[in-house]
Order: sequence, then structure tokens, then C-alpha cells
Amino acid sequence: MEDILTLKDLKKTYNIGKYGSFDVLKKINLRIRKGEFIAIMGPSGAGKSTLLHMIGLLDRPNSGEVVIDDHNIEDLSNRELALLRRKKVGFVFQSFNLMPRMTALNNVLLPAVYAKKPRRERIERAQELLKKVGLENRMHHKSSEMSGGEKQRVAIARALMNDPDIILADEPTGNLDSASGEGVMKLFHKLHKEGKTIIAVTHDTSIAKQAERIVQIKDGKIISK
Ligand SMILES: Nc1ncnc2c1ncn2[C@@H]1O[C@H](COP(=O)(O)OP(=O)(O)OP(=O)(O)O)[C@@H](O)[C@H]1O
Ligand SMILES: [Mg+2]
Repeated sequence: MEDILTLKDLKKTYNIGKYGSFDVLKKINLRIRKGEFIAIMGPSGAGKSTLLHMIGLLDRPNSGEVVIDDHNIEDLSNRELALLRRKKVGFVFQSFNLMPRMTALNNVLLPAVYAKKPRRERIERAQELLKKVGLENRMHHKSSEMSGGEKQRVAIARALMNDPDIILADEPTGNLDSASGEGVMKLFHKLHKEGKTIIAVTHDTSIAKQAERIVQIKDGKIISK
């Protein structure tokens, strides 16, 4: 299978005031093939979220390469990078990051790329996605009035709005009871079967085991992949 994303000798360093700098990611090499389902594991502070940010094109490395679909991001302007990110990547977070006073439908309608399509088409797509995640009866509920598992399913529908190839999830089941967590995993399996590339950070071994591959990270380095 072809690679969808490659990280080559990637380094990420944060400046921490007058105390100097801190290497969060040290020489990361990782190839992700199109359609893979990967779990990222490692202790707190290991650099998992930072790695996910790099994979998700949310930030640029200090050195090394990020190649996505034959684009080396070094060659892209910030604007081009943002555009590519919106088309290619959907994000799911531990704390859902929904707008609490907006309905499920309006939350799913938020992502920007699709905004250029006619309103009717957008609404139809959002409805179809909410149906796909099993929330056809909750479309007009405010997200603050939904359970954790329902909120996360709205967040997954939102992540799918621009039809990204890659779904990135940072502890997607971290705030859920095990039954709701299983529901989220079922959806990920379904999306995986449809050809999406899924990359999920998790602390939960039973979740990680469901992936095709586990990438272990420790102190900013990949220790197994
Ligand atoms: N903006 C920043 N400036 C300075 N240091 C940072 C910044 N963001 C993260 N760090 C540091 O980088 C390290 C890795 O952070 P990261 O959030 O990637 O860890 P993590 O593996 O996701 O941990 P957790 O499991 O707790 O979420 C941590 O020690 C953190 O304090
Ligand atoms: Mg984290």
C-alpha cells in the first residue's frame, strides 16, 4: 500500500523561556500507509499529542520532513498547509470540543471547506453523517444536552464533514464509560473498513489492541512501531 504520510528525522523543540529549549520529539521516523489503523501509546508527557499535531499538520517541525501525499510541507505556505489540513484531516478530541449551545446538526455543519457548497447540500450531508453515527434522533439536541458517548459521535460526524482521508483522535474514549467507548471504536472500525486512515492516541490497552499496529513512544522517541 502506498504511504499517506511520512515523517523523516522529525524534531520538535519548545523554547521554555530563559531556561532554554526542550526536545519534545527527537528524530521521529514513521511511515503511515493509506488505510492503516494505528494506535499511539506511551506514558504521559512522552510526546503523543505533539506527534499527533505533527501528523495532523497543525504545526511544523523544527527539523526533519513531513510528507503527505507527495507534498513536502516545507514547500507549502501556511495558507496552503491549512487548506491541505482541512481537506485531508479530521480531528477527534478527548473532551469533544463541541460548541455547547449549538445543536448537533449545527456542530457538524461547522467545518469550513464544505461551507462553500450550497446550504441545502451541506445540511443533507450533515444529516447523513449524524445518521451514520446513530444520532438521527438527536440532530436538534444541543450538544450540552447530550451524553458523553453521543457528544463524541457528533464530534466524529463533524470530523467527517470534509470527507478527510485521515482521522486523528487524541484519547477519544478517555472521557467515556466502556460501553460508549466501544461505540466509538465500532465507528472507527467502520470508517477503517471504508478506507479511512485512523490514528488514535490511547492509554487503554484494550483499545490499542483493536488497531492494526501500535506505535509506542517514550521520551520523544519511537521505541516500537
Ligand atoms: N507548547 C509547549 N511548550 C513547552 N512544552 C510543551 C508544549 N506542549 C507540550 N510541551 C511538553 O512536551 C511534552 C510532551 O507533551 P505532549 O502533550 O505531547 O505529551 P503526551 O504524550 O500527549 O502526554 P499526555 O498523555 O499527558 O497527554 C510534555 O513534557 C509537555 O510538557
Ligand atoms: Mg496528550
